Amino acid sequence: MNRNPQLNKHGELQHLLTTEGLPVSILLHILDTAESFAGVTEREVKKIPLLRGKSVFNLFFESSTRTRTTFEIAAKRLSADVINLNIAASAQSKGETLLDTVNNLSAMHADMFVVRHLQSGAAHMIASHVRPEIHVINAGDGRHAHPTQALLDMFTIRRYKKDFHNLRVAIVGDILHSRVARSQIHALTTLGVPEVRVIAPKTLLPSKVERLGVRVYHDMVQGLKDIDVLIMLRLQNERMLGASLPSAEEYFKYYGLTQEKLSLAKQDAIVMHPGPMNRGVEIDSAVADGKQSVILSQVTFGIAVRMAVMSILAGN
Ligand code: CP
Repeated sequence: MNRNPQLNKHGELQHLLTTEGLPVSILLHILDTAESFAGVTEREVKKIPLLRGKSVFNLFFESSTRTRTTFEIAAKRLSADVINLNIAASAQSKGETLLDTVNNLSAMHADMFVVRHLQSGAAHMIASHVRPEIHVINAGDGRHAHPTQALLDMFTIRRYKKDFHNLRVAIVGDILHSRVARSQIHALTTLGVPEVRVIAPKTLLPSKVERLGVRVYHDMVQGLKDIDVLIMLRLQNERMLGASLPSAEEYFKYYGLTQEKLSLAKQDAIVMHPGPMNRGVEIDSAVADGKQSVILSQVTFGIAVRMAVMSILAGN
C-alpha cells in the first residue's frame, strides 16, 4: 500500500509536500533536473515550453519575498500561465473556506497550486482534496515543512561542496519554530550527510530532536568545530508563544554569527541563510556580505530548483 501521499501508485512525485520520506532517487532527480535548468536561466532567451498551456496558481496566505517571486519566475520560464491570487482582496476575507476557494480555482482549470499557509498541514489538506490531475506544492506550512527551500539548499551545498558524503553541516538558531530546518534535516540525512548538528539554546529546540538523526549542541565554540556548511536561521518571533529568549542582544552575543565565530569552522566553510535575515540578531553584516556567504546564490538557484519540481510534477 502506498503510504506516502505525495507519490502516485508508480512511486512518482504527484505532489511536493515535505522532504520527509522522499526517496533519495527522487531528491537526486530533482537536483539533477535543476542542474539542466540552471543553464536555461543564464541564456539570453530564458523560456522553454514545458508547461505551455498549463495554469499555475500561487496561493500565498502568508507573506513571502523569495519563494513567491521565484515560483512565479520559474513557472513563467517554463511558459505556464501564472495566476497570483491576491489573498487580501479575495473572497477569503468574506468568510469563504480554503477548500471552497480551491474548488473554485479548480473549476477554472488549475493545473498546479503553490501554497503557503500559516497552518501546518494546509498543503496536505488541499492535496488530499483536489482531482488527481492537479498537483500541489507546499511553499511553507506553519512550522511543519518548506520542501523547495530545503531542495534549493541541497542544490547550493552540492554546487559548492560537490559530495554530500563527507560533510559536517550545522543548522544554527531557532530550530523549534523552523519549517526550513525540519525539511533540511530530512533532506540532508536522506542524501547521506554523515553529521548534521543543530546548535541552539534549549528553549529553541524541539523535544527529542535527536530522533531526527542530528547531534545537539548548545555552544557555538564546540558546535562549529570542523564544520563545512553553516545554515543560520532567523528567530521566528511570529510563531513564538511566549518569551523564548532574554533579548535579541543576548542571543546575538551567544549565537549570532560573527567573523570571529565563523573562524571556528573550517576555513572553506560556506554560510547559508534561507532569508529573510535579521542582521545583528542571528548574523553580522560582515558575514552575511562576506566571502564565505552563498546566501544570494541560494536565491538564484531557487529558480532552477522550482522549475525542476514543476516540470517533474507535470510529467516532463
Ligand atoms: N526563505 C523563504 O521562504 O523566504 P520568503 O518568506 O521570502 O519566501
